[in-house]
Amino acid sequence: MNRPLGITVSRHIMDSQRLHPEATGELSGLLSELIVAAKTISAEVNMAGLADILGQSGKVNVQGEQVQKLDDLANKTIKRRMAQCGYLCTMASEEEDDIIPVKEGYEGKYTLAFDPLDGSSNIDVNVSIGTIFSIHRRRSGSGQGDVVDLLQKGRVQVAAGYIIYGSSTMLVYTTGEGVHGFTLDPSVGEFYLSHPDIIFPEKSKYYSVNEGNSRYWSQGMHKYIDYLKDEDQATGRPYSARYIGSMLADLHRNLIAGGIFLYPRDSKDPAKPEGKLRLLYEAAPFSFIVEQAGGRAITDDGRDILDIEPTGLHQRVSLIIGSKEDVDMYERIAGGEK
Ligand code: AHG
Ligand code: MN
Ligand code: MN
Repeated sequence: MNRPLGITVSRHIMDSQRLHPEATGELSGLLSELIVAAKTISAEVNMAGLADILGQSGKVNVQGEQVQKLDDLANKTIKRRMAQCGYLCTMASEEEDDIIPVKEGYEGKYTLAFDPLDGSSNIDVNVSIGTIFSIHRRRSGSGQGDVVDLLQKGRVQVAAGYIIYGSSTMLVYTTGEGVHGFTLDPSVGEFYLSHPDIIFPEKSKYYSVNEGNSRYWSQGMHKYIDYLKDEDQATGRPYSARYIGSMLADLHRNLIAGGIFLYPRDSKDPAKPEGKLRLLYEAAPFSFIVEQAGGRAITDDGRDILDIEPTGLHQRVSLIIGSKEDVDMYERIAGGEK
């Protein structure tokens, strides 16, 4: 069989590098190493049911959540490979209390923040999960990086992306020049360009929110969700509800098919007054991707996610993210209402 000659992700990365004569190739090298880690995790995820790696590891992470065995495995896979890739000075993971040092003698100029597996509650039930990453240029001079290298605004990310382990494995990333999607051909172990220049569809179809929490929402949130459920043919309402419970998968769908994802602050858990999602590992990388695709991302009280100056590695934040029109409308209807 003659397979179509696809554009590989390495070709794509090299072509983008060529547009920047000043580039040293380090970011390209970093992305390539990360992609190897992702392919390794993808293979493990596909084998999960057979290889006795489903279920809980018995550990509780810094977020106070049960760590699934696959969370642990994905975390270790990224840590081990990236600690000696030579392009990073330090890392932070959703699963680790502190920054993760890189191997002595291998210090580079970038930082990596990652959510090894997003959507852990879906691991045991064979529903889409994924890995999210965020890359910044270091602030400190040389040697091992420090926490200040990681506590930088989303706006100055050098690259961000995710790998979704779904009905197929896909990589979606941006370096600030549009958003590009690649699909893994598992028979050759290569990602091929399948979704060039992803842009939010003009018409939205879906809203994604954990409606089970609605009794803990603000008045403004209630008003906005009621608006989405009203009938109006001109604006395509009512929207359909879709909530997977893996932000990564919910956002991936909305990015391709059109829609909005909301995780507002609520009064359910006093331990999480700022919302549930993590700024460094979830909200900031996705906000960069979504803005690059023409969308918008704000907190429930209208602050741009990408302009938030992080104060802690595991800081949480509320998140309203999706097509620009939808987020603008949220702001108009819900903005300011407690
Ligand atoms: P993680 O699995 O990395 O801990 O993240 C889970 C997050 C996010 O992916 C998802 O959208 C959200 O938690 C689901 O939360 P609820 O179960 O509260 O709706
Ligand atoms: Mn997550
Ligand atoms: Mn996670």
